[in-house]
Amino acid sequence: MGLLDGRVAVVTGAGRGIGRDIALCLAAEGASVVVNDVGVSLAGGSDEAAEDPATTVCKEIEAAGGQAVPNHDSVSDFEAAGRMIGTAVDAFGKIDILVNNAGIVRDRTLVKMDEADYDAVIAVHQKGTFNTARHAAPLMKDAGYGRIVNITSSAGLRGNFGQTNYGAAKAAIMGMTFVWALELGRYGITVNAVSPAGFTRMTEGLYKGAEPPPDQDPALNAPLVAFLASEEASYVNGQVLGRTGFAYTLFQTPRQIAAMWREGGWSPREVADHFHDVLGQHLQPVGMPNHPLLGKKD
Ligand SMILES: NC(=O)c1ccc[n+]([C@@H]2O[C@H](COP(=O)([O-])OP(=O)(O)OC[C@H]3O[C@@H](n4cnc5c(N)ncnc54)[C@H](O)[C@@H]3O)[C@@H](O)[C@H]2O)c1
Repeated sequence: MGLLDGRVAVVTGAGRGIGRDIALCLAAEGASVVVNDVGVSLAGGSDEAAEDPATTVCKEIEAAGGQAVPNHDSVSDFEAAGRMIGTAVDAFGKIDILVNNAGIVRDRTLVKMDEADYDAVIAVHQKGTFNTARHAAPLMKDAGYGRIVNITSSAGLRGNFGQTNYGAAKAAIMGMTFVWALELGRYGITVNAVSPAGFTRMTEGLYKGAEPPPDQDPALNAPLVAFLASEEASYVNGQVLGRTGFAYTLFQTPRQIAAMWREGGWSPREVADHFHDVLGQHLQPVGMPNHPLLGKKD
């Protein structure tokens, strides 16, 4: 008995890296899987070296006794995303699970980032996540059951140098996760986000040719996604989870941690006079570690 026996899943960007391991894991747990991958380069351009990674992963799944079909549509194309979800219905009769994992990066600091680099990354991560979910959610609603897992990143949850486009898209994915959890929870559909980690072509530059440590195996993300995709996770909705080393983690949903109150409101001068004594005591320093007021208690 697997966690996902009889279930049907679509995993986007599943021809390589983290998505590949998610597809293999969901299939090993009994799900029939649509392995989507358009087979692009890391920056989203054509990849001459790629030999249909979606089909390769399907063959791996079948060799291990599982069921899978490839799909080569781009998540960034709304109509194509509809065909992708249709592939699950045509091949396996329904869609129970959607994992939005496809991704590209085009890192530049803000002052160097081209509009095209911004738009391309937003199109795959942010719009792509909307596109597939927009087609899958009505079918899940009619069925009264569904699991959506959106792959986000710490770049969007707390920022990362050089990733304006990627951080914006991954923060938007967190926001959509919260909205969809509210909207779809009543229909038996859970929506959660996972911030993964692992040695893939997306992160290999961090290791500068060195062997990655065992806890950077991208396969380590998949068991958490498989659980979230299962019936047993029916009470887990609107959460942001993560992986650090061999740990799975739960992020705090952003919430107010301090307040300064004044009857009738504040003038700018009054804010300036009181800010440091109240809210200023709770700042989480970002980008200016040596500022003399940060960390000062009076
Ligand atoms: N690797 C990490 O440490 C890490 C950390 C945080 C978040 N993530 C996220 O995890 C996900 C997977 O990343 P990865 O490291 O495995 O990268 P990867 O480059 O190894 O795999 C991404 C796959 O997505 C596919 N893809 C790209 N654009 C597509 C499109 N428009 N339609 C369909 N498929 C498309 C690519 O062809 C590729 O096979 C991404 O969303 C990434 O942002 C990764």
